[in-house]
Amino acid sequence: MDHEVFTRQQYGEIAQFIRARTERRPTVGLILGSGLNALADEMTDADRLAFDQIPGFVGTTVQGHQGKLVFGNISGQEVVIMQGRVHAYEGHSMQRVTLPVRVMAELGVRTLIVTNAAGGVNPSFRAGDLMLIVDHIGFMTMVGGNPLWGPNDETLGPRFPAMNNAYDKQLRRLTLEVARERGIDLKQGVYAGLGGPTFETPAEIRFLRMAGADACGMSTVPEVIVARHMGLRVLGISGISNATIDDPDAEESANHEEVLAAGREMTPKLMDLIRGVLERLPN
Ligand code: HPA
Repeated sequence: MDHEVFTRQQYGEIAQFIRARTERRPTVGLILGSGLNALADEMTDADRLAFDQIPGFVGTTVQGHQGKLVFGNISGQEVVIMQGRVHAYEGHSMQRVTLPVRVMAELGVRTLIVTNAAGGVNPSFRAGDLMLIVDHIGFMTMVGGNPLWGPNDETLGPRFPAMNNAYDKQLRRLTLEVARERGIDLKQGVYAGLGGPTFETPAEIRFLRMAGADACGMSTVPEVIVARHMGLRVLGISGISNATIDDPDAEESANHEEVLAAGREMTPKLMDLIRGVLERLPN
């Protein structure tokens, strides 16, 4: 596992670079996962910066991830949206993968909303379901692939940050209320963060189920760890893009095209939910 070390000064310089290119001063960050782009696309009056124009950021190579930072206003909140993200499996260090979250915090973001496309591990979940992330299991981060490995800058956060409250209880409560009011069926569960890019074997899916996971995906956990290290409040929502396969004799296979198609289908529901949350978010 590669390590890189970035300093607070570097995060600050990148934030300065961005501030010179937009007058917007976001307090909410939003990361949009595979196929969930529309929320940023339809924003009018937004400032857009491609990742590969921003120092320290790397372009994303994954189809369905646009690789743009979008600044605008949704439901009265100033937001910065990461339209697409980079993953460690693209060949980047965990420090590089999570750099945008550090920069968002330098820009003034205090609440981070992370979304992802995920496979349904809970057998009652269907493609198209939305799941509020209550907790996660970070398979990579538990065994050393943790973005906090390396020197700790105490001005960013503590050496040993707690993770029992990673997904903010108040934000979860608020999101469940919004879902109820808007008639959106919102499941709840545990997200298992895996390294990818392989989809899981049937035995791995059965193992994840036994371990207590309800959904699995290849992102989110490193971002949430870094956000919590800096004391940001985190809300996480998975879009269940496919049922996972637990039978070695099954005829079908998971594939990225179905993930993207389900993402597009879920987007209106997810947008509705996020708009409602932003409307009600205390400043
Ligand atoms: N497994 C892992 N990651 C995923 C899946 C899956 O089935 N679907 C979308 N992201």
